[in-house]
Order: sequence, then structure tokens, then C-alpha cells
Amino acid sequence: MQIAQGTFLVTGGASGLGGATSRHLVAQGANVVIADINREGQKLAAELGEQASFICTDVTSEQDVRNAVNLAVETYGRLDGVVHCAGIVVVQKVLDREGNPGDLEQFARGIKINLVGTFNVNRLAAAAMAKNPAQDSGSKGVMINVASIAAFDGQVGQASYSGSKAGVVGMTLPLARELSRHGIRVMTLAPGVFETPMMSDIPDEAVQQLSAAVPFPKRLGKPDEFARLCAHIIENDYLNGEVIRLDGAIRMV
Ligand SMILES: NC(=O)c1ccc[n+]([C@@H]2O[C@H](COP(=O)([O-])OP(=O)(O)OC[C@H]3O[C@@H](n4cnc5c(N)ncnc54)[C@H](O)[C@@H]3O)[C@@H](O)[C@H]2O)c1
Repeated sequence: MQIAQGTFLVTGGASGLGGATSRHLVAQGANVVIADINREGQKLAAELGEQASFICTDVTSEQDVRNAVNLAVETYGRLDGVVHCAGIVVVQKVLDREGNPGDLEQFARGIKINLVGTFNVNRLAAAAMAKNPAQDSGSKGVMINVASIAAFDGQVGQASYSGSKAGVVGMTLPLARELSRHGIRVMTLAPGVFETPMMSDIPDEAVQQLSAAVPFPKRLGKPDEFARLCAHIIENDYLNGEVIRLDGAIRMV
């Protein structure tokens, strides 16, 4: 699928990995709808010009995501793909220091935003993309979901986060299989540790330790490296139904 002149919905597109992806796709000639609860997305869209629009969107809301998809179709003519970056980190142990059970609402919040939100965005975007006339390759759309290496190498305190991201990994193949008859590919990226606002609360010392744990290159990932892989996935029609770790070979122990 071609990026130039295509239209992509970037959820979580106001910040971090989504922000870098919005910038990169616009630089490659695409139109981008930035869908985020973070209103900083409005500033980014204004900076990127006519090729970008912002809509305040909660990915767990049916109406919000319908509105975001409609905005893409009404403003730019069609929706060609999604990079679904919206997500949160929940850190909570199953038992606290006194042995009390972890809060159920907190656990469910991570599952709702990261996993249920992913299904919500996929189903509503797929319904729009299935109506596209097929390109020469037969392609009608591409979905790029975002998991995490925590789906595989979960740490203490990551039951909600790892569980939600493992769910995103698990839905990749069934969605790719089902949507293949509509010419829509489904891919998932599992980033390692990236320099984004999500990681900004981590003390410098911990960042140094994390960087040292990456076999090569010994540093955190750059959002632009994530954005460039998204662009490659969009352009490479033979990538489908797979999860790609983007992590400098780090394995959390
Ligand atoms: N940064 C990392 O190291 C890392 C590693 C692995 C996976 N990830 C995943 O990558 C994705 C992007 O993370 P990031 O590092 O860019 O974080 P970030 O905090 O910079 O960006 C996440 C964006 O998602 C938005 N968001 C949160 N909840 C939302 C909701 N309900 N509806 C709409 N938007 C919502 C936030 O407003 C924010 O703009 C997340 O899914 C995260 O789990 C990040």
C-alpha cells in the first residue's frame, strides 16, 4: 500500500510513538487523523497543516471512534489504515505489602483501554476500510496495533499491562485471518523501551540500567524508529498476521 495520498487514523497520535508516526506519515505525503484524549493533538495537527486533523477521541467509546473514522472519510475521502498507539501503563501488584488484594478497578482499567479499546478501533475502522475500492494489489486497508514486549516478558506489577498487551498479540492472527477476505491486513508491533512521555517518570538511574540491558544498540528506542517501521508495514503488502518486536534484542528478566 502506498503512503502518499493515503489517509491514516493514528490513535494516541498526540504524543510519543503516535506523535512521531503522525509526523512521519505526513512527511511521506499522507493525510493523518490524530485521535487522542490529549488535546495537545490539536497543536500537532495545526503544526502539520492541512494534511492533519485532530479529533478528541476516547478509544473505548463507540461514538468517539465512529466520529474519528467519519472525520477521516469526510475530510480526506477514505480511510486506508490505522496505527493504534493509544494506551496506558497500569502498575499494580496482585498483593500489596500487607497482603491485601490489588484493586480490581485498576486492573480492569488497563484491560479496557489497552485491549477493549484495540478491538473497538479495529472493528470500526475495518467496517469503513472494507467499503474501500481495492487498490491494484487487492489491498483495502492495514491495521497496525501496538502491544509491548511486556506481552512476553512481563515484570512484577504488570499483570494488567502484560495481560492487556498479550490480548492484543493474541487477537492479531484471528483478526488478520478474518479480515483477509476484505483485503485488510492486521499487524502488531511489540516495542521494547522507548523514549516517550510514558517513560518520563522513570528516574535517570533506571533509564541507564534499562539502556545497559539492551544488547545493541545500548540505548532506549527512538519514536522515529517506531514510526519508520509503521511506514514499512504499510508499504509491504506481504506483512500480515504477525507480531514484530522492536527492542534492540532486550529480554526482560
Ligand atoms: N514507550 C514505551 O517504552 C512503550 C513500550 C512498549 C509499548 N508501548 C505502547 O506504545 C503505545 C504508545 O505509548 P507511548 O510511549 O507513545 O505513550 P504516550 O503516553 O506518550 O502516548 C500515549 C497516548 O495515548 C493517549 N491515550 C491514553 N488513553 C487513551 C484513550 N482512552 N483514548 C485515546 N487516547 C488515549 C494518551 O493521551 C497519549 O497521548 C502504548 O500503547 C504503549 O503501551 C510503549
